[in-house]
Amino acid sequence: MTKIAIWCRHTNDNIIGIGPNIPWHVSSDFKRFKRITSGHHLVAGQTTYESFPNRTLPNRKLHVLTFEKDYQVSDLDNHFVHTDYHDFDTFNHDLFIVGGASIYKLFMADKTAMPDVIIDSEYLPDLSTQFTGTPVDITPCIEAMRLHYEPIGIPQRLDDIITTVWVKKGIQTPKILEHILNAIHQQ
Ligand SMILES: NC(=O)c1ccc[n+]([C@@H]2O[C@H](COP(=O)([O-])OP(=O)(O)OC[C@H]3O[C@@H](n4cnc5c(N)ncnc54)[C@H](OP(=O)(O)O)[C@@H]3O)[C@@H](O)[C@H]2O)c1
Repeated sequence: MTKIAIWCRHTNDNIIGIGPNIPWHVSSDFKRFKRITSGHHLVAGQTTYESFPNRTLPNRKLHVLTFEKDYQVSDLDNHFVHTDYHDFDTFNHDLFIVGGASIYKLFMADKTAMPDVIIDSEYLPDLSTQFTGTPVDITPCIEAMRLHYEPIGIPQRLDDIITTVWVKKGIQTPKILEHILNAIHQQ
């Protein structure tokens, strides 16, 4: 099993959301996210899960982290509730960690749970002022990434977003890396 964190952050301040929203919309980035994650298992915090249209992402298995053990998912066949992130310590599938901030921080702060690969996208333009709410950033995750991971390949620019893939230092090249790099380079 390979764990992959995938995020898009505002460059420099590492903001990934304002209130419940992602403060940018880059359709090529959404398409790329779909290419990378389709057919795979994803884990999301309850807030992020609730933000998916109709609380779903087609053609993906969604694992929702919540403290509420009776939490009702929208699709009983394809969505699963977890109250403990250690459920993924042993897991039979590759797993994409798709946020939000509390979930990235949970995995990145725990050496035994850390992802093997990080798909680190940076949104370059200034943030629009149309979004109100509390900014959410993942600075501790970026600091841990710079310490424990090394970038591979050439950063890829697509529209306003630069993506770099990072692999945890000292691990064997995971099998899924080829799929990730292909999906990133495909435009
Ligand atoms: N730019 C990006 O790449 C990206 C990606 C995803 C999300 N986001 C943004 O991130 C923000 C949301 O992040 P967030 O931190 O507020 O919310 P979140 O991480 O999506 O979800 C938080 C919820 O997860 C559950 N949770 C947290 N820690 C847990 C644990 N240890 N065990 C079990 N459940 C746990 C809790 O659910 P309960 O309250 O139900 O107990 C908590 O309220 C939004 O702005 C969103 O747009 C950005």
